Amino acid sequence: MAEYDYDVLVIGSGPGGYVAAIRAAQLGLKTACAESRETLGGTCLNVGCIPSKAMLHASEYFEAAAGGAMAKLGVEVTPKLNLGAMHGQRLDAVKQLTGGIEYLFKKNKVTWVKGLAKFQNAHTVDVGGQTVTAKNVVIATGSSVTPLPGVEVDNSKGVVVDSTGALELASVPKKMVVIGGGVIGLELGSVWRRLGSEVTVVEFLDQLLPGMDGEVRKEAAKLFKKQGMDLRLSTKVTGVTVKGKKATLTLEPSAGGASETLEADCVLVSIGRRPNTEGLGLEAIGLELNKRGQIETDPDFRTKVDGVWAIGDVIPGPMLAHKAEDEGIAVAENIAGQTGIVNHAVIPSVVYTMPEIAGVGLTEEQAKEAGHEVKIGKFPMLANSRAKTNHEPDGFVKVVADAKTDRVLGVWIIASVAGTMIAQAAQAMEFGATSEDIAYTCHAHPTHSEALKEAAMAVQGKPIHI
Ligand code: FAD
Ligand code: NAI
Repeated sequence: MAEYDYDVLVIGSGPGGYVAAIRAAQLGLKTACAESRETLGGTCLNVGCIPSKAMLHASEYFEAAAGGAMAKLGVEVTPKLNLGAMHGQRLDAVKQLTGGIEYLFKKNKVTWVKGLAKFQNAHTVDVGGQTVTAKNVVIATGSSVTPLPGVEVDNSKGVVVDSTGALELASVPKKMVVIGGGVIGLELGSVWRRLGSEVTVVEFLDQLLPGMDGEVRKEAAKLFKKQGMDLRLSTKVTGVTVKGKKATLTLEPSAGGASETLEADCVLVSIGRRPNTEGLGLEAIGLELNKRGQIETDPDFRTKVDGVWAIGDVIPGPMLAHKAEDEGIAVAENIAGQTGIVNHAVIPSVVYTMPEIAGVGLTEEQAKEAGHEVKIGKFPMLANSRAKTNHEPDGFVKVVADAKTDRVLGVWIIASVAGTMIAQAAQAMEFGATSEDIAYTCHAHPTHSEALKEAAMAVQGKPIHI
């Protein structure tokens, strides 16, 4: 009889966990995945990437019709919002994609053990009352919303909500206040602004989107303001009180000072996410967390406890689905005795607003801080023929290259299709490209991607179209 029920037990079926489980099974390992939700796919498929993009996509069409962008193209329509149908297509996307993971589990013979997992010891896990043993256990429990002390979220009432509540509001709030000008606040704030809400974003720092390139952050703030968002930078929320269907927020300057109040029909709390480790029984296996509450691993995703591995949002690094997925593949390959590697220096990030905002590698500031002498090449989307033709003039491409070696250190893009364009930059960087390599690569015309070529040419000092 086998010593363990499974070769691999993955805890959590988000983009990290489900990908790890499938790859482990593909490599011939007997694999199970513990998931406590009713559906597979984790945060990303159920309440994150997918439903938010469904609402962003639909609301963008609504705004294009209502705001006159379609009329400009000669398509005259009188739009009427059917919010129920909009939510319906969101739920449909979630149902199809989470069902797709269930199908992939069956196809690859991954057993879904339903329930909450808790370690008994490093190889024995209680999953909703069932004991499961495994030679290797991968922790892929993801993250959840960071609460704001003194602010109580109640998604069922729809007044003070987190991202999950903000995806499913039953009506368009007249006034919405977003606490936190990060990715979630700007994406979901954009959804409701497009559908008619007056949106105010309260951000603690002096700029939106921490972690992004400084010029991109400034330009993004300009564009969101132009779109009608009220941005309250360097401001903190000190309290929220709710009376019936109305909320009153108390704000003050981040550095301290006179407070003021703001009324809202809906408050979105989006100040970050924190790793899910509570209730996992980590004390039973002697696994400690770092100061940020994360599980530390070595580059192969091994924790300090033999046979226990960890990936995704629960470990350090950007909390992104594709980062979790790549770690899922790598951890399974490492468990199988292969060499699974993730290059954490080249992980793109994308904000799916209009225009999209994307980046990969180092910001100009980070490159300088790391001691690089840098050369910068910039190209405005206004001078890109396709963007101009499509009436998408906002944004630019910025290439950060090392002045001595010309190697590309980072690429930052604001453009309608920045999320698609950034893949090319990531691939170039993965192959160690110089800006000259990109500048001399033939790009199809007319495409938005030509702006990346021209920004690379600008590093060389000779773009054609500006
Ligand atoms: P998760 O997806 O969080 O999955 C963890 C799973 O583990 C969950 O299903 C949970 O139920 C389960 N679990 C936890 N504890 C236990 C336990 N003890 N027993 C059993 N099961 C357990 N990222 C992007 O890259 N692009 C985007 O566009 C994007 N949009 C987002 C939009 C929103 C609104 C949010 C909230 C997040 C978004 N993200 C996006 C982030 C992305 O969702 C996460 O980075 C990603 O889901 C992390 O994957 P994971 O596998 O580590 O964990
Ligand atoms: P975030 O870290 O992106 O932004 C949080 C913002 O809140 C920061 O700008 C921070 O300075 C600010 N903040 C913190 N405390 C505050 C306070 N008290 N008052 C005012 N502002 C405050 O976190 P967010 O937006 O909640 O998203 C969580 C994670 O989910 C992101 O880090 C990202 O990795 C992931 N995500 C990714 C998406 C994508 O890839 N498109 C979309 C949505 C989420």
